Amino acid sequence: MTTSAIELAEPTMLGWLTDYGLDAEYVRSSGNTLFAKQADGSERPVLDLAGGYGSVLLGHNNPELVALARELFEQQTPIHAQFSRHPYANELVTRLNAVLHREFGVSEPYYGVFANSGAEAIEAAVKHAELDRVLKVRAAVDAVEESLNRAREAVAGGATVVEDAYRALGVPVGDFEALAAELSRVTAEKAARQPVFLALESGFHGKLVGSIQLTHNPVYRTPFTALARPSRFVAFNQPGAVRKILDEERVQLTELVVDGGAVRLGERELPVVTAFLLEPIQGEGGIQEVGAEFAREIATACEEAGVPVVIDEIQSGMGRSGAFFASSQIGLRGDYYALSKSLGGGVAKAAVMLVREKFYRGDFELVHSSTFAKDSFSCTIALKALELLEADGGRAYRQAAELGAKLKAVLESIRSDHPDLVKDVRGRGLMLGLEFHDQSANPIPAVAEQAKAGMLGYALAGYLLREHAIRIFPTASATNTLRFEPSLFFTDAEIAQVEAGLRAAVAVLRDPSKRLV
Ligand code: F0G
Repeated sequence: MTTSAIELAEPTMLGWLTDYGLDAEYVRSSGNTLFAKQADGSERPVLDLAGGYGSVLLGHNNPELVALARELFEQQTPIHAQFSRHPYANELVTRLNAVLHREFGVSEPYYGVFANSGAEAIEAAVKHAELDRVLKVRAAVDAVEESLNRAREAVAGGATVVEDAYRALGVPVGDFEALAAELSRVTAEKAARQPVFLALESGFHGKLVGSIQLTHNPVYRTPFTALARPSRFVAFNQPGAVRKILDEERVQLTELVVDGGAVRLGERELPVVTAFLLEPIQGEGGIQEVGAEFAREIATACEEAGVPVVIDEIQSGMGRSGAFFASSQIGLRGDYYALSKSLGGGVAKAAVMLVREKFYRGDFELVHSSTFAKDSFSCTIALKALELLEADGGRAYRQAAELGAKLKAVLESIRSDHPDLVKDVRGRGLMLGLEFHDQSANPIPAVAEQAKAGMLGYALAGYLLREHAIRIFPTASATNTLRFEPSLFFTDAEIAQVEAGLRAAVAVLRDPSKRLV
């Protein structure tokens, strides 16, 4: 193999990683360990807490999944058999339904549409929700037109239109056709309104053209706002925030109602909000849990407004939180779910979005597709990953909760020993965050400089990798927070290694003789 003299694969990022000592080359991975190639050709084991941004709950190269992958290749599984029957995909959606029904205590089916990445699943969900909205808008417009026809017949039969109706629409009293024309015009104008997407502040839903407008971080989002419909962001865990926005966005169509011998104005709701997207535990935005009370408000306000709730469980789902769906722990049932990351067991690239029957439009399947999605390999691996999670009555979920509680206790003890440096410990299960206080005024110049640049989390990551063989990153949109997402095979020895590393990192923030970067 030849190596080119200049780096052509995202060289800016590599330069940046190099500055922080994060430019390791990993040549092997197993369980919670990534093996970094050293200058002398040897391998250095590194404890991985980044866990593929949450993709390896079942560990790197899980032996059972690797064995299955081998088997599938040996059997010459038809990876490319688009436009044919896909029983493995159907089986996967069926089993996901069983989990969903158990955790939410419902029996309504959810249909599945496949994708290859998190952002793609989110965009498919948003597209589906918009198709549903557009069809509902058309139905509402048709209903208004039908109301005009009914009124026209009633007027021909001697009914009278109340005068207020003419005045409200600014047409001459008694001129029914002028009234009907104006109502049609206003209806068409309202129906052509741009849709509204709602998402939570500090939420992350991907970085593609559509999904980046649902991701809150302005650094990622604002350069591309002209490419797609911008979202309205709802304040996180703030009571009243959802209902207020839904009220502000409400649009009513005016129709005619025949009431005995009179014709008067009536109202009909126009669906304007396509969907409300949220992560039950925000990942990239700093490990923040949606509270049960806020969840209840979201559920009731959206249900009343007829707005579908899209729950992004791409990172929080598949058992990481201590249940398959983190949203089930706060009693928030979604109309849509997006799953990816650990769905592929850390081996395959898999994603799926699930849509509740009540909202499902089969015609979506005719207008949406992806070459790679729904293939035999990724679906069969995902089925096995799900089987591993569900084994022994859901032992994996209990394990995630227990291991998470152990790690959280360690993080809490560090916080209670250093309340001036550690601000908060958040999350549940194997999705935890430890937030440092702002260190811009730290007396150690190197620390203050990194903090002022918003890079303290990366500097600490570089330190932990260099000195303690721990791979961890801050959440990219909240860089004072370190994110912990180890696998289900996290051991006591590894927890001890994390504690020692973190205590040493805290010492670096106090001791000018220690090197941070
Ligand atoms: N939704 C959530 C909740 C995510 O955490 C991510 C990715 C995505 C969607 C997009 O998925 O990258 O496969 O297109 N999160 C990574 C992170 C980037 O750092 O947490 P993707």
